[in-house]
Amino acid sequence: MTDRPYVIDQMISAKSIAARVESLADEIEAHYAGTDKLIVIGLLRGSFVFIADLARELDLPVEIDFIEASSYGNSTTSSREVRILKDLRGEIEGRDVLVVEDIVDTGFTLSHVIHLLSARKPRKLEVCALLDKPARREVDIKARFTGFEIPDEFVVGYGIDYAQANRNLSYIGKVRFTD
Ligand code: IMP
Ligand code: MG
Repeated sequence: MTDRPYVIDQMISAKSIAARVESLADEIEAHYAGTDKLIVIGLLRGSFVFIADLARELDLPVEIDFIEASSYGNSTTSSREVRILKDLRGEIEGRDVLVVEDIVDTGFTLSHVIHLLSARKPRKLEVCALLDKPARREVDIKARFTGFEIPDEFVVGYGIDYAQANRNLSYIGKVRFTD
């Protein structure tokens, strides 16, 4: 599949992303107003560009941590296993936490991570997702803050990959196969 030729059609420009990140940061600041410290947790690897831009727009005391989860599809059942490959470095008990995700697709990854982090008893736990593909949802979960709702297309760029490629694009584009 990764050998199939494809082109990338721009879907969301770098300028639109930057504008949306600014307004998301405003919403997040309002939500966490007065916090002594917000722990912003990026889901590796897809969120690394988004979290870098978002964190710099947040006018709050912030700490950054990362967690990495990997999911395995199982085509015979609609259930999926999610494994934690890299856990947080810090404690979140009693803290204000914001999980930053690139895309909410089926929702399995996010629901697993939220479940895991909730068990550690943060004071407040919300999710900010850059992209949401509601048409693909299998688990009833929604990010508190969403950058853009997009149709059921495979997208890349701004941290998001196709077979590890294209994470460095400054915009978000959809993959179109040309064969
Ligand atoms: P979920 O568990 O199905 O919600 O999986 C979400 C994860 O799948 C995202 O964090 C991405 O890493 C990956 N993913 C979902 N849709 C896309 C896409 O269109 N392009 C690249 N990765 C995607
Ligand atoms: Mg991801």
